[in-house]
Amino acid sequence: MNIDDSTIQIGFTDVNKFYGAYHALNSINLSIPKGQFVALVGPSGCGKSTLLRTLAGLEEISSGTINVGGRTVNDIPPRKRDLAMVFQSYALYPHMNVRENLTYALRLKGVSKEIRANKADEVAAIIGLEDLLDRKPRELSGGQRQRVAMGRAIVREPQAFLFDEPLSNLDASLRVRMRKEIRALHERIGSTSVYVTHDQVEAMTMADHVVVMRAGKIEQQGVPLDLYKNPANCFVAGFIGSPAMNFIPGVIDESGESVTLDFEESPSLPIAQSMQPGRPVVVGLRPEHVELGDAQSCGYAAISISSVEETGSTTYLFSSATPELVIVADGSQQVRSGDVIGVKIAPTNVHLFDPETEVSLSNG
Ligand SMILES: Nc1ncnc2c1ncn2[C@@H]1O[C@H](COP(=O)(O)OP(=O)(O)O)[C@@H](O)[C@H]1O
Ligand SMILES: [Mg+2]
Repeated sequence: MNIDDSTIQIGFTDVNKFYGAYHALNSINLSIPKGQFVALVGPSGCGKSTLLRTLAGLEEISSGTINVGGRTVNDIPPRKRDLAMVFQSYALYPHMNVRENLTYALRLKGVSKEIRANKADEVAAIIGLEDLLDRKPRELSGGQRQRVAMGRAIVREPQAFLFDEPLSNLDASLRVRMRKEIRALHERIGSTSVYVTHDQVEAMTMADHVVVMRAGKIEQQGVPLDLYKNPANCFVAGFIGSPAMNFIPGVIDESGESVTLDFEESPSLPIAQSMQPGRPVVVGLRPEHVELGDAQSCGYAAISISSVEETGSTTYLFSSATPELVIVADGSQQVRSGDVIGVKIAPTNVHLFDPETEVSLSNG
């Protein structure tokens, strides 16, 4: 990736963080251009919050460099880093109305009442709360409170907004709406945003650039759909996408043009590239890439189905054989548990990984 240095807003260079002997951040390198929405995603405990907190200055790093807006901030205290952490909505001051909540930071700075009032109006227009400035937080809906929390950060006109799982306490439908609102706000203000979440769907739908972390390391980063299409290893392949990718051991055939799966009747799948015959591999198949057909038809492998879950639009099929193969089918499919069905997969949708290193063997 070639980015003109002047457009880089935030940069991590070889950043390490130890808690005692525990290596919480392991050689982190990350460049965030101005205006980008970046999601840090990974399972609980992988170091997402730690990474965000080192950027905010709430945690010291053990080695490396962090840059914000062209200056090294390693030794700069949080308040002077010019970054705004957007907390969950419950962090609002309950006894202050929306106007006071929005401009509290300005009052602390000694900004005059008149300028504060103007600023509150301006920000309220951005977040769409012009008519609610006199309300207290308890008189607002969850979504409105979340917007005030955003507004409070916007008032400070920071170099970047930092979010740490801001939606995790909201119910599912509000969460989906707030995702869209935060993304729309990001675009309206033209800000740079770093957003931590354990939810890969949230990361994929909100961000321009997704950073997948595991055990303190960045496993892969890139454009959301690129991570889905070309995962660098089994971890990313299994983490991005829902339901998760199926993994089945296999061996490359004599021809080098297909792979035999260690599964049921040992079906052979054509692959999109030529590989060394006899090479053991892990085959990755996304549930939504399995095509159904007649078990007797040419090109289809027969597999038996042990259970079926129907949601209406989509039907999930589970194989009897191990490892369990999960298939996402159209809701109109009439499959019952105990049925034997035919399946096939397009060669370009067959992912291959090294069984030892778990690194992708597929040509991107
Ligand atoms: N103050 C601390 N002291 C010791 N270990 C910590 C501290 N904060 C976090 N950790 C550990 O560092 C790891 C990463 O934590 P965290 O960044 O909070 O993960 P995430 O946000 O991805 O769930 C975890 O194993 C956690 O237990
Ligand atoms: Mg966390």
